[in-house]
Amino acid sequence: MLLKTEIDKLYEEACKVRLKSYSPYSKFKVGAAVLLKDGNIITGTNVENASYGLASCAERNALFSTISLGYKKQDIKALLVVADTDAPCSPCGACRQVISELLDENADIILTNLKNDIKELKVKELLPFSFSKEDLNV
Ligand code: THU
Repeated sequence: MLLKTEIDKLYEEACKVRLKSYSPYSKFKVGAAVLLKDGNIITGTNVENASYGLASCAERNALFSTISLGYKKQDIKALLVVADTDAPCSPCGACRQVISELLDENADIILTNLKNDIKELKVKELLPFSFSKEDLNV
C-alpha cells in the first residue's frame, strides 16, 4: 500500500500535467503519474491527432517516458490516473496491456477523478489473465 502523502503528491502532479492535454477532438483531458522507488515522479497526458486513431493515452505516455529515461519494471512503484469522470477514471484496454507488461504485477494502480475519489488496486487486478511475453516463447 502507498502512503497518503505519496498518493497526494502523485495526484497533484497528475492533475498538473492533465491541464497540458492535447485533446481538441474529445475534449477529455487525462493525467497520469508514475511513482518510482527512487522518489521521482514521471508524468504524461493524452495527445490526440486529426487522424483520430493515433491518439495516445496519458498512461502510455507517462510509462513510455519512464522507460525512455532508463527506468525498468523493478524501479516502478505505482501509477496514478486522473480525469473528470464520475467514478475514478479507468484505463482503456490497450493501456492495461501496456501497464501489465511494464509494471510488476504487484505494483499499485490508483484510479482517481477531480473529486479525488480513489480506487486502489494491483496491476494483476487491473488485467487478470493477461497476454504476456511468456506466452510468446521468445
Ligand atoms: N484516454 C486516456 O488518455 N486514458 C484513459 O484511461 C482513457 C482515455 C484518452 C484517449 C483520448 O485522447 C481521450 O482520452 C478520449 O478517449
